[in-house]
Amino acid sequence: MAYTVSKLTDYSAAALERASAELLSALEQESVAVKSEADWKIFRDRWVARKNGVLTQLNDLWLKAAPKDAKREVGQRVNEIKTRVEDVVEKSEYLQLEIATGTPQASDIVDITLPGARRSIGAEHPVIRTTNEIVSVFQKLGYSVAEGPVIETDYYNFEALNFPPNHPARDTQDTLFIAGQAAKAGRERLLLRTHTSPVQIRTMETMRPPLRIVIPGTVHRNDPPDASHSPMFHQVEGLAVDTNITFGDLKGTLDHAMKALFGSSVKTHFRPSFFPFTEPSAEMFVSCFICGGSGKRGAEPCRPCKQTGWIEILGCGMVDPNVFEFVKDNGYDPKKVSGFAFGMGADRIALLKYGVDDIQLFFQGDVRFLRQWA
Ligand code: PHE
Repeated sequence: MAYTVSKLTDYSAAALERASAELLSALEQESVAVKSEADWKIFRDRWVARKNGVLTQLNDLWLKAAPKDAKREVGQRVNEIKTRVEDVVEKSEYLQLEIATGTPQASDIVDITLPGARRSIGAEHPVIRTTNEIVSVFQKLGYSVAEGPVIETDYYNFEALNFPPNHPARDTQDTLFIAGQAAKAGRERLLLRTHTSPVQIRTMETMRPPLRIVIPGTVHRNDPPDASHSPMFHQVEGLAVDTNITFGDLKGTLDHAMKALFGSSVKTHFRPSFFPFTEPSAEMFVSCFICGGSGKRGAEPCRPCKQTGWIEILGCGMVDPNVFEFVKDNGYDPKKVSGFAFGMGADRIALLKYGVDDIQLFFQGDVRFLRQWA
């Protein structure tokens, strides 16, 4: 007859002892009868299942039913039994045997002829790698790294960079504006920064001259994606401010940087340009490091430089005195300091460096493509 919990009628110490001995001996007997996993599960449920397991029944039939003056005694007994039952269930001989002999379960069988599950460690993204390379060239020249927000105000992205309100130069930036800003004053309206140049202002607001910084970061423009455009891309900006900084310093610095990035044989070339925040402004070209500046690859025309022998790399110029006016109070008196700034597209440089012909490949996340940089 299987053991069943019965109500106690006698709460004397001797009666309790008898009842508990009877229970524990039933536990012992049933435990040695367990021979398989299925047996053990039945055994476990019978004794410790929350719903109607022996322990639960003990609680109801012994403890809750006990008269007040016996509760303490019965409680202690029930606790002792509980510990013992749990112990026996957990350390069932069947389980010990199972561990000792390692009787294999279907889920444990390892087929050592299958290839292992490999977790790859990943690789630096080519655009990030290029960004880091550019940044480190300038760090070696003593530049520090500055960063700023991607969601920017009109003030930092345009106004303090000498783009007057409604000036047509703003149109060249294809700005993506944050919706629902109409109630705000113009300069406080939020947008996705179209270039890293706002960080020039933000840094000059907090750091006094002399200043030399590089600014890596993502920027956005409302350009439809194609092989050479992406609505999100990366720039590295630079700014140097001190007394007596000249265009010669700009040329020397950038010429050095291009040789460090593309090889010591590249030449640089500057053409006049326009940016509201630099005066004079220039576009800088490097001699094509694919065709060596000849415009030809054997008998074929060189595509990256469109047969010109020159590749446009960045925009630059001397900081416009109007820009310094916005941060004059922090030591940037345009009569005393001068500086140069430059900004380049890291994605474009990565395309050129690695001979990739479609910028979209950088942002599609196709592991087969990205693995090449592992
Ligand atoms: N911010 C300019 C652009 O995105 C690049 C630039 C930076 C030009 C600094 C001059 C000086 O086109």
